[in-house]
Amino acid sequence: MLKKIKMKNKPLVCLTAYNKFTAEIIDEHCDLILVGDSLGMAYYGNSSTRSVKLDDMIRHAKSVRKGVKKSILVVDMPFGTYNNKSNAKKNALKIIKETKCDAVKLEGGKEKSSLIKFLVKNKINVMGHIGLLPQKIKSKKNFKIFGKNTREEKKILQDLDYIQNSGVFSIVLEGVKEDLAKKIVQKSKVPIIGIGATKECHGQILVLEDMLGFFEKVPKFVKKYVNLKKYVKRAVKNYSTDVKRKKFPSRKNVYN
Ligand code: KIV
Repeated sequence: MLKKIKMKNKPLVCLTAYNKFTAEIIDEHCDLILVGDSLGMAYYGNSSTRSVKLDDMIRHAKSVRKGVKKSILVVDMPFGTYNNKSNAKKNALKIIKETKCDAVKLEGGKEKSSLIKFLVKNKINVMGHIGLLPQKIKSKKNFKIFGKNTREEKKILQDLDYIQNSGVFSIVLEGVKEDLAKKIVQKSKVPIIGIGATKECHGQILVLEDMLGFFEKVPKFVKKYVNLKKYVKRAVKNYSTDVKRKKFPSRKNVYN
């Protein structure tokens, strides 16, 4: 199945999902669906992704699995679940066994490369994640773009080198300056999926709730394709008015 995710001329379409119902809606138009640990922020309203537990990811991924028929399904390994080779292998296998996903994703560059190699050797499909690493950030205020100086640039290029040689099938590149993102795409041997990177990436990913317009404040790299917050508010206001005026339920909504 992962053979689908090759470097093609047509960019790969990727989105996150946290439950069956949204997964069902987006599956038709996606190549890859990620059950991201952005779950902690976009779904549970926490200030970082670090509060997400392995069981949370598994519970949501099981639901998403029910809605995904054709896309590649990837599940994030949450913070603290891949500190060493043995807990990484145990937790990755648990995620795969319980959710029937195609691959796991984990954050980190050079420092995670031997761990990734070990997982891949154990037949676990791994997606990498470099650049801005949300699991390193304790609060929304501290999110910042990478690649603003030569030290950071050198570090990210080195991270790319290490993890693509460790056997990842693809890499998420998050929150880097565009000129650096372009260099990374040029040097890559595996598909680079961008978020806050460049349109030159082999694919793009966004958090579904961000692009659907559930939140007022979103990072610059998000494009809101619809303002669902506005529509939901309007619908709930109309419902409230109907209930108060005894217009709901109408004859159509009751059993005779
Ligand atoms: O957790 C997540 O949703 C992610 C994407 C933003 C790439 O890692």
